[in-house]
Amino acid sequence: MIKGSDDVFENVMELAKRRGFIWPTSECYGAVAGFIDYGPLGAMMKRRVENIWRDFFVIQEGYYEIECPTIAQEAVFIASGHVKGFSDKMCQCPHCKEYLRADHVAEGGNIRNASTMNSDDLAAAIASCKCLACEEVLGTVSVFDFNLMFSTTIGPGSQRVGYLRPETAQGMFVDFTRLLRFYRDKLPFGAVQIGKSYRNEISPRQGMIRLREFTQAEAEIFVHPFEKNHHPSFKRYADYTMPLLTHFRQQSGEDPIEITMREAVDKGIIANEYVAYYVALTHDLLVTIGIRPSQVRFRQHLPDECAHYAADCWDAEIFSPRFGWVETVGIADRTDYDLKAHAEHSGTPMTVFIQYDTPKITERYRIIPNMSVLGKQYRTKAKAIFAQLEKAIPTPEGADVEVDGEIIHIPANLFEVRNEVTEVRGEDITPHVIEPSYGIDRMCYAVLEQAYDEDIADGETRTVMRLSPKVAPVQVAVFPLMTRDGLDYLAAEITKALHKQGILAEYDGGGAIGRRYRRQDEIGTPFAVTVDYETKENNTVTLRDRDTMKQVRIPITRLPEIVGALVRGTITFTSINI
Ligand code: GAP
Repeated sequence: MIKGSDDVFENVMELAKRRGFIWPTSECYGAVAGFIDYGPLGAMMKRRVENIWRDFFVIQEGYYEIECPTIAQEAVFIASGHVKGFSDKMCQCPHCKEYLRADHVAEGGNIRNASTMNSDDLAAAIASCKCLACEEVLGTVSVFDFNLMFSTTIGPGSQRVGYLRPETAQGMFVDFTRLLRFYRDKLPFGAVQIGKSYRNEISPRQGMIRLREFTQAEAEIFVHPFEKNHHPSFKRYADYTMPLLTHFRQQSGEDPIEITMREAVDKGIIANEYVAYYVALTHDLLVTIGIRPSQVRFRQHLPDECAHYAADCWDAEIFSPRFGWVETVGIADRTDYDLKAHAEHSGTPMTVFIQYDTPKITERYRIIPNMSVLGKQYRTKAKAIFAQLEKAIPTPEGADVEVDGEIIHIPANLFEVRNEVTEVRGEDITPHVIEPSYGIDRMCYAVLEQAYDEDIADGETRTVMRLSPKVAPVQVAVFPLMTRDGLDYLAAEITKALHKQGILAEYDGGGAIGRRYRRQDEIGTPFAVTVDYETKENNTVTLRDRDTMKQVRIPITRLPEIVGALVRGTITFTSINI
């Protein structure tokens, strides 16, 4: 329950700053838009979100994590297409001089399809729109492309151009041949990476949603192109349902539909089992970090919105009262685009040899030229004729070959045609790539925004972050009722015992017990232990649940085991069995 007309964004960001979740960066010099610091609680919460992501992708899926540099040489991004095409259309407000994203201006003016317009059409379309900064009508502006990559130079002398990576993905593509060997030359396999990416966003003014330095968690799953409809674990999510906003439904203005992943693939709504599997896994993961299912939907890219290399693309969008539906995860079938591009630019083959179950026997003819006669007769052209004859189609009269634009007829007595039987054991294929790409900062914002709540406790309004115990930075608070009579010593010992079990327990002995509860409620600590005089008599403590504010008395000896199970989610507070 949140009070009347409160803006959740303002409330969350105020709390986040005050309690050490998120801070503006280098604030003492004046913060820079698009950069944030994670404070002590925010950094811990972010790690927990990242570790849940690892539970899914590294432990459940078995895709090992790698770590590549955040700067790469120019060649990588020429091959990937980022140097040429990773740009947004920009204009400058003639009144306040602010640089603006032209598609955002168009969006504000209810102009549709801005992303598909060329610069001139977009400039004409936004002339009647208002500047997003000063709110004056723009009038005549020019629209131009602005590349979002931060460039730098590598080494002294500014000789080598480098770029800060705009996605972690490219590191995994350029490591393809090493990864293939690591996975013993077998498809499918995946590599994952969590790390910083950089985009010089034109005018980032949406807090944690649009940053210039942000954390991505990406998986690149390399699959045989003919096996995309056979995910080995598809059964896990075959019956899973969630709202799917297909491109047809977007175009006809309909609501999302809820169907199983099996149906979505069978009806051709989702391109293949791999994409459907990661759509469902993503939903599962988002719910695990504490996002309410009613606030998540999966939106398919419109045909003209899909990246040029993608066969199908779905965005997991999370609803925010302030920002509307926010793209938080993108799941794309990137086909063989990236591997082919890097193979071509680097000259390194990026293929997998797929052995046939039974070798294929092929019969073909081979033309064996009579070199001594050909050599004498055609002299300087003989070598070229010889090469062309290998590809020529022989007839009983001879074969025609083309050398330097001239068609030369070679009579049949100047070559022999032999039939050859060969055994083909397999073929080289370029794998396709399925890519679930997560924005960790957007996930963290959604977690904070959805956790924020206010209710009444002890007759007063309390602010409570209803964070899932799995992501709450502090997992349990330990309070001595009084900081005397040995209660403080006992509480400190209990805190240490919890630490030994890997539980982040915070000892707090300051102020009235009610105030201590409020402090922990506000940072989302899901459980609190109170050591009182009864503890000294029977070695029991009270354990309080943040959300219901109910308490149970449990023996100290069982506390680490019970709190551990509550944090992992293997038991709930109501199912605690003493
Ligand atoms: N490798 C694919 C890729 O990078 P993307 O849709 O551009 O795809 C993936 O980015 C995710 O990264 C987005 O869904 C979003 O959560 C996050 N992201 C992208 N740009 C961001 C920004 N400027 N600030 C914060 N997160 C961002």
